Amino acid sequence: MSPVPVLTIDGPSGSGKGTVSAEVARRLGWHMLDSGALYRLTALAALRHQVSLDDVEGLAEIARTLEVEFLAQAQGPARIMLEGQPVSDELRTESCGNAASKVAAIPAVREALLQRQRDFQQAPGLVADGRDMGTVVFPQAAVKVFLTASAEERAQRRFKQLKEKGMDVNLPALLQEIAERDQRDSNRSVAPLKPAEDALVLDTTGMGIDEVVESVLQACKSFI
Ligand code: DC
Repeated sequence: MSPVPVLTIDGPSGSGKGTVSAEVARRLGWHMLDSGALYRLTALAALRHQVSLDDVEGLAEIARTLEVEFLAQAQGPARIMLEGQPVSDELRTESCGNAASKVAAIPAVREALLQRQRDFQQAPGLVADGRDMGTVVFPQAAVKVFLTASAEERAQRRFKQLKEKGMDVNLPALLQEIAERDQRDSNRSVAPLKPAEDALVLDTTGMGIDEVVESVLQACKSFI
């Protein structure tokens, strides 16, 4: 029996991965793994249980015992629950993203979340969104895509997204945070952010979401 097909979509913050992955999963009728949410959930759970972001063993234990549910919705992204409480909005804050980036640099945390991510590979297929989906978590994936865009464009996109949610944001501060997070995600010793050797690298600077979605669907044409 051939394995359940996986499409990996990796890339830096604000590259449009989340939106593109969700739309591609919807169009293919496949499941979706938002792996960044698992790192965000680990950071949020640590905060709630008063485990310091410097406590490596404590954070690994949080990741191992994380009690989460992804509740699929008729439309839009899954509703994410942590220990029975809805946390989708809290997870998307910049402070949670920054804490997640620190937590994600810890090898024991990554190890603890590995099998949990692989368990999402279920029929008829999986779109896996993250940083190391094609390099570490699903190295045998049928199709691998790496999305990127200039830091300025990614900051602009994030700015617009957060503004639309009514959040108070500052563009230069966002650009600096994105640059710092890129630096941390790309230079960590374990599973750094980089395209898999067999990934299709798409620079989406100046491209609209629909155009990117079409390019990704084109790349997995043999499965449709
Ligand atoms: O994609 P995101 O912004 O929700 O990810 C939050 C943080 O988690 C990001 O700074 C990098 C980290 N991350 C990771 O290291 N590996 C992944 N597969 C997904 C996210």
